[in-house]
Amino acid sequence: MTKIIYMKEKNNEDILKECAMSIRNGGIVVLPTETVYGIGANALDKNAVEKIFEVKKRKKNNPLIVLVSDIDMLKCIVKEINSIHKTLIENFWPGPLTIVFDKNDILPDNVSGGYETIGIRIPGNTTAINLIKQSGVPITAPSANISGMPSITDPKVAYEVFDGKVDYIIDDGISTIGIESTIVRVETDVVNILRCGKILPEDIEKLGLVVKISSDIPSKNNKHYDIGKNSIIVAGNEKEILEKINKYLKKNLDKKIGMIGFDEHYDIFSSKIEKYIKMGSINNYDEILKRLFNTLNEAQKTDVDIFLIESLENSGIGQVIMNKLIEVSDNNFM
Ligand code: TXA
Ligand code: MG
Repeated sequence: MTKIIYMKEKNNEDILKECAMSIRNGGIVVLPTETVYGIGANALDKNAVEKIFEVKKRKKNNPLIVLVSDIDMLKCIVKEINSIHKTLIENFWPGPLTIVFDKNDILPDNVSGGYETIGIRIPGNTTAINLIKQSGVPITAPSANISGMPSITDPKVAYEVFDGKVDYIIDDGISTIGIESTIVRVETDVVNILRCGKILPEDIEKLGLVVKISSDIPSKNNKHYDIGKNSIIVAGNEKEILEKINKYLKKNLDKKIGMIGFDEHYDIFSSKIEKYIKMGSINNYDEILKRLFNTLNEAQKTDVDIFLIESLENSGIGQVIMNKLIEVSDNNFM
């Protein structure tokens, strides 16, 4: 039986404690973070970690990342914290930056998928930090989704997917950021960005550090974003996008067409197609980011032949969102 904990309700300290004890004793919990929801287990418990791989249907060689509540806990599970690590920690923790460290032997091998390294962060979510503190152990936090499906930022979706499969689901509302953490690995004096999230390369460069973009991540050959149907990204400026879509609709009257587009274009297209999913305002990319996984989850549930996806400006947060959409569309552009 899965118990749900609503953080909005008062007096839930006791049940959160119960949940922390469950983690300590091998339980599995869907927990909030500021990026996306995660699946937590005691990272020091090999059997609990094993359950995470089963529930997520995750490949055994794809390492999990781990959350800690403070630097003392970090020190217990890694070999070395160098001066660049310290700069990154001081500037970005608690927050959406996962740093890859050399792990020590207290962590079982299955957490890191057999790798000698482990990705760690202090999350920027008070409930998550309290949970780690109360359980007294580092907690795993791969994204709470079945492998290959979009990540989850809405606790209602977490409930649909994980009810009956985990011991607790902690509902702390919609994730505030809405996209997975940026992951970095420091090599000599270079910060390699393995996955880009809300923290951008330029945010790290501003600290005077040398940054390199690298996609050398254990999961590089996996597909992370699949809505289970064909999709095309409509490229260009706003005017070009609108023209291309109108042309496409005229040519494809026999198709059931869905769109993922800006709120501002809803009135233009919603009556001409099967389903228009609003991704947010053309003027507020942070909002689009925050809603992205809900948008993709909704697309996944919608029965159409094809989705047309309006493109964003390819820089800063726009580029981060575009990278996810490009993955969804399998690099399909028009
Ligand atoms: O924001 C996040 O990072 C969320 C929240 C829930 O914490 N978690 C998350 O976990 O996105 P996951 O498992 O979905 O993605 C972690 C990624 C995977 O692509 C994995 O291959 C990579 O991190 N990774 C894990 N350990 C690594 C390591 N030692 N070196 C390089 N990449 C690693
Ligand atoms: Mg994931």
